[in-house]
Amino acid sequence: MTTSAAKHDDSDLTMGIDPYERNWMRFSVAMLIVFFITVSVSGFAMGFQVNGAETEVDPRTVLDSEPWASPGIREISPGNYEAFVVAQTWAFVPRELEVPVGSTIDIYVTSPDLQHGFKITDTNVNMMVVPGQVSKMTFTFDQVGEFPYICHEYCGKGHAAMFGVVNVVDATTAADQDSADTEEDS
Ligand code: CUA
Repeated sequence: MTTSAAKHDDSDLTMGIDPYERNWMRFSVAMLIVFFITVSVSGFAMGFQVNGAETEVDPRTVLDSEPWASPGIREISPGNYEAFVVAQTWAFVPRELEVPVGSTIDIYVTSPDLQHGFKITDTNVNMMVVPGQVSKMTFTFDQVGEFPYICHEYCGKGHAAMFGVVNVVDATTAADQDSADTEEDS
């Protein structure tokens, strides 16, 4: 076994770095490259978002003033909506958000009591909801269907009852409802 003997010989070292250590350094650099590619692909190609604290609010009074005094969804321009969802023990208000297919929703969530979660099934919308902060994520619903949202941070005995649904309807159904609404108004 000449190799084991040579291991302790200075001639076997490159730039003073032990081969064993050098392999670990190569491995570390390779991992950094892999992580960098993973983050870049998920962020730019797959659209992963990290929700930030959009605004700070006082959890004791947040529900007293607009927009949180009347949570719900509203159209801000054709095809663009904003939704304000309150996560509280133990329900989401509102329990249902309805939009025509192809709509983009800016979703704002806050909690007046304790920490909750907000995750919409089959989407990349997944937020932590912390009292005192407003979490925001944006998502475009390109498929007709029901997308349930759930609380995924354990928040007490009613945790499992915290759910709701985003109802994505086809454009004609939505138009029918709009005209029906207008007829009721007139
Ligand atoms: Cu709210 Cu779990």
